[in-house]
Amino acid sequence: MTKHFQFGRLPLIVFGERTISQLPGLIKRYGKEVLLVTGRSSFGNSSSAVKFYEAVKSENIDINKLVIQGEPSDSIIDEAVAVYRVNPPRVVVAIGGGSVMDAGKAISAMIPVQGKIIDFLEGTGTRDHPGIKIPFIAIPTTSGTGSEATKNAVISRVGKNGFKKSLRHDNFVPDIALIDPELTISCPQNITAASGMDCFTQLVEAYLSNKANEYTNALALEGLKALKLSLINAYIDGNDIEARAGMSFAALTSGICLANAGLGVIHGFASSIGGLYNIPHGVVCGTLMAVSNEITVKRLREIYGSEPFLSKYSVLARIFLEGNDSRNEIDSFIEYLHGLTEKLHLPGLKTAGINENDLKKIASATDCKNNPVKLTTGDLCEILQRRYI
Ligand SMILES: [Fe+2]
Repeated sequence: MTKHFQFGRLPLIVFGERTISQLPGLIKRYGKEVLLVTGRSSFGNSSSAVKFYEAVKSENIDINKLVIQGEPSDSIIDEAVAVYRVNPPRVVVAIGGGSVMDAGKAISAMIPVQGKIIDFLEGTGTRDHPGIKIPFIAIPTTSGTGSEATKNAVISRVGKNGFKKSLRHDNFVPDIALIDPELTISCPQNITAASGMDCFTQLVEAYLSNKANEYTNALALEGLKALKLSLINAYIDGNDIEARAGMSFAALTSGICLANAGLGVIHGFASSIGGLYNIPHGVVCGTLMAVSNEITVKRLREIYGSEPFLSKYSVLARIFLEGNDSRNEIDSFIEYLHGLTEKLHLPGLKTAGINENDLKKIASATDCKNNPVKLTTGDLCEILQRRYI
Protein backbone atom coordinates (compact mmCIF):
# COMPACT_ATOMS: atom_id res chain seq x y z
CA MET A 1 0.00 0.00 0.00
CA THR A 2 1.20 3.50 -0.83
CA LYS A 3 2.43 5.34 2.27
CA HIS A 4 1.14 8.73 3.33
CA PHE A 5 2.63 11.69 1.49
CA GLN A 6 2.13 15.31 0.49
CA PHE A 7 3.00 16.85 -2.86
CA GLY A 8 3.11 20.65 -2.94
CA ARG A 9 2.11 23.07 -5.64
CA LEU A 10 4.04 23.62 -8.85
CA PRO A 11 4.64 26.81 -10.80
CA LEU A 12 3.14 27.21 -14.25
CA ILE A 13 6.09 25.68 -16.11
CA VAL A 14 6.97 27.18 -19.50
CA PHE A 15 9.84 25.08 -20.87
CA GLY A 16 11.71 25.15 -24.18
CA GLU A 17 14.14 26.96 -26.44
CA ARG A 18 13.26 30.58 -27.17
CA THR A 19 10.39 30.62 -24.62
CA ILE A 20 11.98 33.83 -23.29
CA SER A 21 10.01 35.53 -26.09
CA GLN A 22 6.85 34.75 -24.11
CA LEU A 23 8.00 36.76 -21.09
CA PRO A 24 6.43 40.14 -21.95
CA GLY A 25 3.05 38.41 -22.38
CA LEU A 26 3.45 36.55 -19.08
CA ILE A 27 4.39 39.77 -17.26
CA LYS A 28 1.27 41.51 -18.57
CA ARG A 29 -0.90 38.96 -16.73
CA TYR A 30 0.03 40.83 -13.56
CA GLY A 31 0.46 44.42 -14.74
CA LYS A 32 3.07 46.68 -16.29
CA GLU A 33 5.28 47.63 -13.33
CA VAL A 34 8.06 45.10 -13.00
CA LEU A 35 10.97 44.66 -10.64
CA LEU A 36 13.61 42.80 -12.66
CA VAL A 37 16.27 41.10 -10.52
CA THR A 38 19.37 39.92 -12.38
CA GLY A 39 22.97 38.94 -11.74
CA ARG A 40 25.95 40.99 -12.84
CA SER A 41 26.28 39.43 -16.28
CA SER A 42 24.11 36.32 -16.61
CA PHE A 43 21.40 38.00 -18.69
CA GLY A 44 22.39 41.61 -19.28
CA ASN A 45 24.64 41.15 -22.30
CA SER A 46 22.88 38.30 -24.08
CA SER A 47 21.02 38.60 -27.37
CA SER A 48 17.91 37.33 -25.53
CA ALA A 49 18.19 40.36 -23.23
CA VAL A 50 18.32 42.78 -26.16
CA LYS A 51 15.19 41.21 -27.67
CA PHE A 52 13.47 41.19 -24.28
CA TYR A 53 14.13 44.89 -23.65
CA GLU A 54 12.89 45.77 -27.16
CA ALA A 55 9.70 43.77 -26.54
CA VAL A 56 8.95 45.35 -23.15
CA LYS A 57 9.56 48.80 -24.57
CA SER A 58 7.00 48.24 -27.31
CA GLU A 59 4.50 46.98 -24.70
CA ASN A 60 5.07 50.01 -22.42
CA ILE A 61 6.18 47.78 -19.57
CA ASP A 62 7.91 49.78 -16.87
CA ILE A 63 11.06 48.03 -15.60
CA ASN A 64 13.00 48.73 -12.42
CA LYS A 65 16.23 46.78 -12.44
CA LEU A 66 18.07 45.45 -9.40
CA VAL A 67 21.45 43.71 -9.75
CA ILE A 68 22.39 41.12 -7.13
CA GLN A 69 26.01 40.00 -6.75
CA GLY A 70 26.79 36.71 -5.04
CA GLU A 71 24.56 34.86 -2.63
CA PRO A 72 21.89 37.09 -1.05
CA SER A 73 22.45 38.16 2.54
CA ASP A 74 19.74 39.34 4.91
CA SER A 75 20.97 42.94 4.64
CA ILE A 76 20.88 42.89 0.81
CA ILE A 77 17.25 41.75 0.92
CA ASP A 78 16.25 44.22 3.66
CA GLU A 79 17.79 47.15 1.76
CA ALA A 80 16.06 46.22 -1.51
CA VAL A 81 12.73 45.64 0.18
CA ALA A 82 12.87 49.03 1.95
CA VAL A 83 13.04 50.71 -1.46
CA TYR A 84 10.25 48.75 -3.11
CA ARG A 85 7.77 48.72 -0.19
CA VAL A 86 7.13 52.42 -0.91
CA ASN A 87 5.87 51.77 -4.42
CA PRO A 88 5.52 48.01 -4.92
CA PRO A 89 5.85 46.45 -8.37
CA ARG A 90 3.00 44.34 -9.78
CA VAL A 91 5.36 41.44 -10.40
CA VAL A 92 8.92 40.45 -9.54
CA VAL A 93 10.93 38.71 -12.29
CA ALA A 94 14.29 37.11 -11.46
CA ILE A 95 16.59 36.09 -14.32
CA GLY A 96 19.84 34.44 -13.22
CA GLY A 97 21.39 31.62 -11.24
CA GLY A 98 20.11 30.21 -7.96
CA SER A 99 21.26 33.21 -5.90
CA VAL A 100 19.42 35.67 -8.13
CA MET A 101 16.24 33.57 -8.13
CA ASP A 102 16.43 33.21 -4.34
CA ALA A 103 16.91 36.97 -4.00
CA GLY A 104 13.88 37.67 -6.22
CA LYS A 105 11.82 35.11 -4.32
CA ALA A 106 12.75 36.62 -0.95
CA ILE A 107 12.09 40.19 -2.13
CA SER A 108 8.67 39.26 -3.53
CA ALA A 109 7.83 37.66 -0.16
CA MET A 110 9.15 40.48 2.04
CA ILE A 111 7.63 43.51 0.24
CA PRO A 112 4.09 42.91 1.62
CA VAL A 113 5.15 42.32 5.26
CA GLN A 114 6.86 44.56 7.80
CA GLY A 115 10.08 43.64 9.60
CA LYS A 116 13.47 42.20 8.73
CA ILE A 117 13.91 38.94 6.85
CA ILE A 118 16.04 37.43 9.63
CA ASP A 119 12.94 37.36 11.85
CA PHE A 120 11.24 34.99 9.40
CA LEU A 121 14.14 32.62 8.62
CA GLU A 122 14.06 28.98 9.70
CA GLY A 123 16.26 28.49 12.71
CA THR A 124 16.91 32.18 13.44
CA GLY A 125 13.48 33.77 13.19
CA THR A 126 10.67 34.09 15.70
CA ARG A 127 7.88 35.10 13.33
CA ASP A 128 5.77 33.01 10.93
CA HIS A 129 5.42 34.51 7.48
CA PRO A 130 1.75 34.81 6.45
CA GLY A 131 2.59 33.60 2.94
CA ILE A 132 1.44 36.71 1.08
CA LYS A 133 3.75 37.90 -1.70
CA ILE A 134 4.07 39.90 -4.92
CA PRO A 135 3.60 37.56 -7.94
CA PHE A 136 6.96 36.06 -8.86
CA ILE A 137 8.42 34.73 -12.13
CA ALA A 138 11.68 32.73 -11.97
CA ILE A 139 13.94 32.31 -15.02
CA PRO A 140 17.16 30.28 -14.56
CA THR A 141 20.36 30.99 -16.50
CA THR A 142 22.23 28.08 -14.88
CA SER A 143 21.15 24.48 -14.39
CA GLY A 144 21.51 23.66 -10.74
CA THR A 145 19.54 24.74 -7.72
CA GLY A 146 16.07 24.19 -9.12
CA SER A 147 15.01 27.33 -7.25
CA GLU A 148 12.56 27.96 -10.11
CA ALA A 149 10.39 25.20 -8.58
CA THR A 150 11.07 25.39 -4.83
CA LYS A 151 9.27 27.06 -1.95
CA ASN A 152 12.38 28.38 -0.20
CA ALA A 153 14.93 31.13 -0.69
CA VAL A 154 18.36 30.55 0.84
CA ILE A 155 19.75 33.58 2.65
CA SER A 156 23.29 33.59 4.01
CA ARG A 157 25.47 35.69 6.22
CA VAL A 158 29.12 34.69 6.13
CA GLY A 159 31.50 35.02 9.09
CA LYS A 160 31.61 34.66 12.85
CA ASN A 161 27.85 34.88 13.35
CA GLY A 162 27.26 33.43 9.93
CA PHE A 163 24.32 31.33 8.85
CA LYS A 164 22.73 29.86 5.77
CA LYS A 165 19.00 29.59 6.35
CA SER A 166 15.80 29.42 4.35
CA LEU A 167 12.80 31.68 4.07
CA ARG A 168 10.16 29.06 3.37
CA HIS A 169 6.43 28.90 2.70
CA ASP A 170 4.31 26.78 0.35
CA ASN A 171 3.15 30.01 -1.31
CA PHE A 172 6.71 31.01 -2.22
CA VAL A 173 6.84 28.50 -5.08
CA PRO A 174 7.18 30.82 -8.11
CA ASP A 175 3.93 31.57 -9.91
CA ILE A 176 5.69 30.96 -13.22
CA ALA A 177 8.95 29.14 -13.99
CA LEU A 178 10.15 30.01 -17.49
CA ILE A 179 12.98 27.72 -18.51
CA ASP A 180 14.69 28.55 -21.79
CA PRO A 181 17.80 26.36 -22.18
CA GLU A 182 19.31 28.92 -24.59
CA LEU A 183 19.82 31.24 -21.61
CA THR A 184 22.25 28.73 -20.10
CA ILE A 185 24.56 28.67 -23.17
CA SER A 186 26.68 31.50 -21.77
CA CYS A 187 27.15 29.79 -18.39
CA PRO A 188 30.94 29.34 -17.86
CA GLN A 189 32.44 25.86 -17.65
CA ASN A 190 33.26 25.91 -13.91
CA ILE A 191 29.73 27.05 -13.04
CA THR A 192 28.28 24.43 -15.41
CA ALA A 193 30.21 21.80 -13.42
CA ALA A 194 29.34 23.11 -9.95
CA SER A 195 25.67 23.80 -10.63
CA GLY A 196 25.37 20.50 -12.51
CA MET A 197 26.70 18.66 -9.46
CA ASP A 198 24.28 20.56 -7.22
CA CYS A 199 21.48 19.31 -9.45
CA PHE A 200 22.89 15.74 -9.43
CA THR A 201 23.17 15.81 -5.62
CA GLN A 202 19.62 17.09 -5.25
CA LEU A 203 18.17 14.38 -7.48
CA VAL A 204 20.11 11.60 -5.73
CA GLU A 205 19.41 12.90 -2.22
CA ALA A 206 15.69 13.38 -2.93
CA TYR A 207 15.51 9.87 -4.46
CA LEU A 208 17.24 8.28 -1.45
CA SER A 209 15.49 10.48 1.12
CA ASN A 210 13.57 8.83 3.94
CA LYS A 211 10.73 11.21 2.94
CA ALA A 212 10.66 10.18 -0.75
CA ASN A 213 7.34 9.09 -2.25
CA GLU A 214 6.22 7.49 -5.50
CA TYR A 215 5.87 10.85 -7.28
CA THR A 216 9.27 12.17 -6.26
CA ASN A 217 10.87 8.79 -7.06
CA ALA A 218 9.42 8.76 -10.57
CA LEU A 219 10.44 12.35 -11.25
CA ALA A 220 13.93 11.97 -9.75
CA LEU A 221 14.67 9.00 -12.00
CA GLU A 222 13.58 10.94 -15.11
CA GLY A 223 15.76 13.86 -14.01
CA LEU A 224 18.70 11.53 -13.45
CA LYS A 225 18.30 9.91 -16.88
CA ALA A 226 18.38 13.36 -18.49
CA LEU A 227 21.39 14.37 -16.40
CA LYS A 228 23.26 11.21 -17.33
CA LEU A 229 22.93 12.09 -21.02
CA SER A 230 23.73 15.77 -20.57
CA LEU A 231 26.07 16.74 -17.73
CA ILE A 232 29.41 15.81 -19.30
CA ASN A 233 28.36 17.02 -22.75
CA ALA A 234 27.23 20.41 -21.40
CA TYR A 235 30.55 20.69 -19.54
CA ILE A 236 32.65 19.81 -22.59
CA ASP A 237 30.70 21.93 -25.08
CA GLY A 238 28.62 24.74 -23.60
CA ASN A 239 27.02 25.36 -27.00
CA ASP A 240 25.50 21.86 -27.12
CA ILE A 241 21.88 22.96 -26.84
CA GLU A 242 20.56 19.41 -26.45
CA ALA A 243 22.84 18.89 -23.45
CA ARG A 244 21.89 22.30 -22.06
CA ALA A 245 18.18 21.43 -22.44
CA GLY A 246 18.75 18.10 -20.68
CA MET A 247 20.43 19.88 -17.77
CA SER A 248 17.67 22.52 -17.63
CA PHE A 249 15.12 19.71 -17.37
CA ALA A 250 17.18 17.88 -14.72
CA ALA A 251 17.57 21.06 -12.63
CA LEU A 252 13.87 21.92 -12.75
CA THR A 253 13.05 18.34 -11.79
CA SER A 254 15.56 18.40 -8.93
CA GLY A 255 13.81 21.46 -7.51
CA ILE A 256 10.40 19.75 -7.60
CA CYS A 257 11.88 16.64 -5.96
CA LEU A 258 13.76 18.40 -3.18
CA ALA A 259 10.75 20.56 -2.31
CA ASN A 260 8.69 17.41 -1.78
CA ALA A 261 11.17 14.79 -0.56
CA GLY A 262 13.86 16.80 1.22
CA LEU A 263 17.63 16.36 0.95
CA GLY A 264 20.46 14.48 2.61
CA VAL A 265 23.75 14.92 4.38
CA ILE A 266 25.54 16.63 1.48
CA HIS A 267 23.14 19.54 1.71
CA GLY A 268 23.63 19.41 5.48
CA PHE A 269 27.33 20.09 4.81
CA ALA A 270 26.44 22.80 2.28
CA SER A 271 24.46 24.57 4.95
CA SER A 272 27.10 24.38 7.72
CA ILE A 273 29.99 25.29 5.39
CA GLY A 274 27.92 28.04 3.74
CA GLY A 275 27.57 29.91 7.05
CA LEU A 276 31.34 29.99 7.52
CA TYR A 277 32.78 30.35 4.04
CA ASN A 278 31.89 32.07 0.83
CA ILE A 279 32.29 28.97 -1.34
CA PRO A 280 29.78 28.31 -4.15
CA HIS A 281 27.07 25.90 -3.01
CA GLY A 282 27.54 23.65 -6.05
CA VAL A 283 31.27 23.27 -5.37
CA VAL A 284 30.59 22.06 -1.81
CA CYS A 285 27.93 19.59 -3.02
CA GLY A 286 30.01 18.37 -5.95
CA THR A 287 33.21 17.85 -4.03
CA LEU A 288 31.49 15.94 -1.20
CA MET A 289 29.12 13.84 -3.28
CA ALA A 290 31.21 10.72 -3.93
CA VAL A 291 32.64 10.29 -0.42
CA SER A 292 29.33 11.08 1.30
CA ASN A 293 27.58 8.40 -0.75
CA GLU A 294 30.44 5.97 -0.10
CA ILE A 295 30.11 6.36 3.67
CA THR A 296 26.30 6.29 3.51
CA VAL A 297 26.44 2.97 1.60
CA LYS A 298 28.98 1.58 4.09
CA ARG A 299 26.68 2.39 7.02
CA LEU A 300 23.56 1.12 5.25
CA ARG A 301 25.28 -2.24 4.70
CA GLU A 302 25.83 -2.54 8.46
CA ILE A 303 22.21 -1.89 9.36
CA TYR A 304 19.48 -4.49 9.28
CA GLY A 305 16.50 -3.33 7.20
CA SER A 306 18.44 -1.10 4.81
CA GLU A 307 17.63 -3.23 1.78
CA PRO A 308 15.11 -0.76 0.24
CA PHE A 309 17.75 2.00 0.20
CA LEU A 310 20.47 -0.29 -1.13
CA SER A 311 18.07 -1.42 -3.88
CA LYS A 312 17.65 2.25 -4.79
CA TYR A 313 21.43 2.58 -5.06
CA SER A 314 21.35 -0.38 -7.47
CA VAL A 315 18.76 1.44 -9.58
CA LEU A 316 21.04 4.50 -9.71
CA ALA A 317 23.97 2.28 -10.69
CA ARG A 318 22.00 0.78 -13.56
CA ILE A 319 21.14 4.26 -14.91
CA PHE A 320 24.73 5.49 -14.82
CA LEU A 321 26.63 2.30 -15.64
CA GLU A 322 24.59 0.77 -18.42
CA GLY A 323 26.23 -2.34 -19.84
CA ASN A 324 28.50 -2.63 -16.80
CA ASP A 325 28.38 -6.19 -15.47
CA SER A 326 30.76 -5.62 -12.59
CA ARG A 327 30.63 -7.79 -9.48
CA ASN A 328 29.10 -5.06 -7.40
CA GLU A 329 27.16 -2.36 -9.18
CA ILE A 330 26.78 -0.15 -6.11
CA ASP A 331 30.56 0.00 -5.59
CA SER A 332 30.96 0.74 -9.30
CA PHE A 333 28.48 3.60 -8.97
CA ILE A 334 30.51 5.08 -6.11
CA GLU A 335 33.66 4.75 -8.26
CA TYR A 336 31.78 6.49 -11.07
CA LEU A 337 31.02 9.42 -8.72
CA HIS A 338 34.69 9.67 -7.70
CA GLY A 339 35.66 9.68 -11.41
CA LEU A 340 33.11 12.40 -12.14
CA THR A 341 34.56 14.61 -9.39
CA GLU A 342 37.92 14.36 -11.19
CA LYS A 343 36.50 14.80 -14.67
CA LEU A 344 34.67 18.01 -13.72
CA HIS A 345 37.78 19.35 -11.92
CA LEU A 346 35.91 20.04 -8.70
CA PRO A 347 38.31 21.52 -6.14
CA GLY A 348 38.84 19.86 -2.76
CA LEU A 349 37.97 21.67 0.48
CA LYS A 350 41.56 22.87 1.03
CA THR A 351 41.79 24.33 -2.47
CA ALA A 352 38.35 25.90 -1.97
CA GLY A 353 39.77 27.84 0.99
CA ILE A 354 38.60 25.96 4.10
CA ASN A 355 40.81 26.05 7.18
CA GLU A 356 41.62 22.54 8.46
CA ASN A 357 40.97 23.67 12.06
CA ASP A 358 37.32 24.27 11.14
CA LEU A 359 36.57 20.72 9.96
CA LYS A 360 35.42 19.50 13.40
CA LYS A 361 33.25 22.57 13.89
CA ILE A 362 31.68 21.99 10.47
CA ALA A 363 31.03 18.31 11.25
CA SER A 364 29.34 19.12 14.57
CA ALA A 365 27.12 21.73 12.92
CA THR A 366 26.08 19.41 10.07
CA ASP A 367 22.57 17.99 10.03
CA CYS A 368 22.04 14.70 8.17
CA LYS A 369 18.61 15.98 7.05
CA ASN A 370 16.69 13.15 5.31
CA ASN A 371 19.72 10.98 4.59
CA PRO A 372 18.72 7.29 4.43
CA VAL A 373 21.00 6.63 7.40
CA LYS A 374 22.12 8.97 10.17
CA LEU A 375 25.90 9.39 10.07
CA THR A 376 27.96 9.93 13.22
CA THR A 377 30.12 13.01 13.83
CA GLY A 378 33.08 10.68 13.22
CA ASP A 379 31.66 9.74 9.80
CA LEU A 380 31.14 13.41 8.96
CA CYS A 381 34.72 14.24 9.99
CA GLU A 382 35.99 11.38 7.82
CA ILE A 383 34.09 12.71 4.79
CA LEU A 384 35.53 16.21 5.26
CA GLN A 385 39.04 14.93 5.89
CA ARG A 386 38.98 12.70 2.78
CA ARG A 387 38.08 15.73 0.66
CA TYR A 388 40.59 18.01 2.39
CA ILE A 389 42.86 18.24 -0.63
FE1 LIG B 1 21.51 22.41 -3.69
